[in-house]
Amino acid sequence: MEFHVLTLFPEMVLDGLNTSILKRAIEKEQIKINAINIRDYTTDKHKKVDDYTYGGGAGMLMQAQPVYDAYCDVVNKRKKRDRVRVVYVTPQGKVFDQKMAEQFASEEDLVILCGHYEGIDERVLEEIVTDYVSIGDYVLTGGELPAMVMIDAIARLVPGVLNNDESASTESFAGNLLEYPQYSRPEEWNGKRVPEVLLSGNHKKIAEWRLEQSKIRTKERRPDLYEKYEKEEKEREAARRALKEEQKRLRRMGKI
Ligand code: ADE
Repeated sequence: MEFHVLTLFPEMVLDGLNTSILKRAIEKEQIKINAINIRDYTTDKHKKVDDYTYGGGAGMLMQAQPVYDAYCDVVNKRKKRDRVRVVYVTPQGKVFDQKMAEQFASEEDLVILCGHYEGIDERVLEEIVTDYVSIGDYVLTGGELPAMVMIDAIARLVPGVLNNDESASTESFAGNLLEYPQYSRPEEWNGKRVPEVLLSGNHKKIAEWRLEQSKIRTKERRPDLYEKYEKEEKEREAARRALKEEQKRLRRMGKI
């Protein structure tokens, strides 16, 4: 998967992502991070990329021309001709979550546009942006950190990026539950013992304990998420019951 980040600070994005698991993924060419400096595309002889806002108000706005030309260069260099998704990271967007990360991870290319100063001229946003995404209800000085947060969350879902030990399946947010508490050696630290069940070798019991801990933790720390879990669990239970009834009916009729 290739991320194309349109930014005024390409080195911030490249340096920030080139460590640990993502560094390995870049080296193995499982992901590619293409950071494009918007300033390289300005036609202004002083290399300016921003100007005052019409109608007054504090601060400068990034102008449409360099952003649009940087975007066109990305599109023209792509081999494929299908419409590419362009995410503008902004506090005015839909709040990023694991489901969104999963959807973006299925794209071959993703363009992420980072604003700075007071934002970007609305006309170019209307022209190129497909998704407005925020990483939370607070305001940062620019879009680079949100872009890096998103890339990290998306890249780890790209097949092969995580190895088995780092695997993505049974962790926080899978099925709307937070991950259960985990322990490593020693068996006792600071007077605290590892829960006995984890030392028992009984895998069924361990799985039950972990599910229970996940529920307790989610209820306590994220009651909003727990409500979702309970709702979906009820739906799953109803579907299981309906399936059983249908199987009974078919058996009575001698069809299975
Ligand atoms: N740019 C500034 N603040 C932001 C936020 N919270 N999310 C995404 N982009 C931003």
